[in-house]
Amino acid sequence: MTKPALLVTGASGQLGRRVVELLLEKGATSIIAATRDPEKLSPLARKGAIARKADFDDPASLEKAFHGADRLLLISTDAIGRRVGQHKNAIDAAKKAGVKHIVYTSLINPENSPAVFAPEHIVTEKMLKDSGIGHTILRNNIYTDMLLMKLPHVISSGTLGALAGNGGVGYVTREDCARAAAAALSASGNESLTYEITGPAVVTYTDLAAIASAIGGKPVAYVAVAPEILRKAFSPAYAELLVSLEYTIAQGKLAVSTNDVKKLTGRDPQAAADFLAQHRAALLEAPQKKAVS
Ligand SMILES: NC(=O)c1ccc[n+]([C@@H]2O[C@H](COP(=O)([O-])OP(=O)(O)OC[C@H]3O[C@@H](n4cnc5c(N)ncnc54)[C@H](OP(=O)(O)O)[C@@H]3O)[C@@H](O)[C@H]2O)c1
Repeated sequence: MTKPALLVTGASGQLGRRVVELLLEKGATSIIAATRDPEKLSPLARKGAIARKADFDDPASLEKAFHGADRLLLISTDAIGRRVGQHKNAIDAAKKAGVKHIVYTSLINPENSPAVFAPEHIVTEKMLKDSGIGHTILRNNIYTDMLLMKLPHVISSGTLGALAGNGGVGYVTREDCARAAAAALSASGNESLTYEITGPAVVTYTDLAAIASAIGGKPVAYVAVAPEILRKAFSPAYAELLVSLEYTIAQGKLAVSTNDVKKLTGRDPQAAADFLAQHRAALLEAPQKKAVS
C-alpha cells in the first residue's frame, strides 16, 4: 500500500519547518512543504520534501499546492484579524483537492477567552467541523519559547511585572508542539479528535520569578502592573494583544496541563524550567529590545 502524501502549510515558519524536519527524520516519503516562499525551503527540498507555493490569500495557489495530498497540517497564520478568510480558503481548497484529513493548530480554551487571537480559532474549528473532512484539532497552549523574549529583561532588572494575578500557563515548547503535529499528521486514523497540547505543569508568574531568579543567580520579584504600563510600552496593536493575553492568564483559561503530548508522541513534554535552563546563555545576554518585565 502506498504511504499517504502528507502536506504541511506554512512550512517556512518556525513550527512548520520543524514539523517537516521531523517527518523527514521519521522516514516519511511523500511530504509536501507548502509556503508563500518556496525558495526558503531549499534545505528541506534537498532532504526530499516537495516544496510548493501556497498562499492562503491566493485561493488559486492553494488548489494547485494541495493536489495529491491525503493529510494536511493547517498551521494557523500570524495575520491576526484576517485569519478566518485565510483558513476558509485553505479548508475549501483542501476539500476540492480531496484531502481526507486536516490537522489544525488551535489555541487552548478559546471559548469565551479575552485573548484577541482566540475568536478566529473558534470559527476555524467550526469551519473544520462543518467541512465534513476528518480532522484533528491541536489546541496548543502558549509556547515556552515566548518566554525567551520576556525573561532577559526580567533577569537583568530583577522585576517580573505582569497583570495576571496568580494565574498560570501550561507552557509547552514549540518543539513539543511540532512533535505532536507531526504525530497527528502521520497517524493513520480519520476520526475527528481534539487534543490539548500543553507542558507537564501549570507555571504561575510567582513560579516564573523563582525560575528567573535561579537562572540569573539573583532575586527576582513578581510585581503586579496596571494595563496602562503595557499600553505605554508597546504599539497599540501589540499592547492590546499582550493585555488580552494577561487577562486570559488571570482568568485561568491557560492553566491547563494534560498528557496529550505523551499520548500523541510517546514522550513526556519538556518542563518550562528545564527548557529555560537549557537557554540560560541567551537569557543572560543583555536584553536587546524594549520589553516590559
Ligand atoms: N502557541 C503560541 O504561543 C503561539 C505563539 C505565536 C504564534 N502562534 C500561532 O502558531 C502559528 C505557528 O507558529 P510559529 O511559531 O511557526 O509562527 P511563525 O514562525 O511566525 O510563522 C507564521 C506562519 O504563518 C504562515 N502564514 C502567514 N501568512 C500566510 C499566508 N498568507 N498563507 C499561508 N501561510 C501563512 C507562515 O507560513 P509561510 O511563511 O511558510 O508562508 C508561517 O507558518 C502562528 O502562525 C500563530 O498562528 C502560537
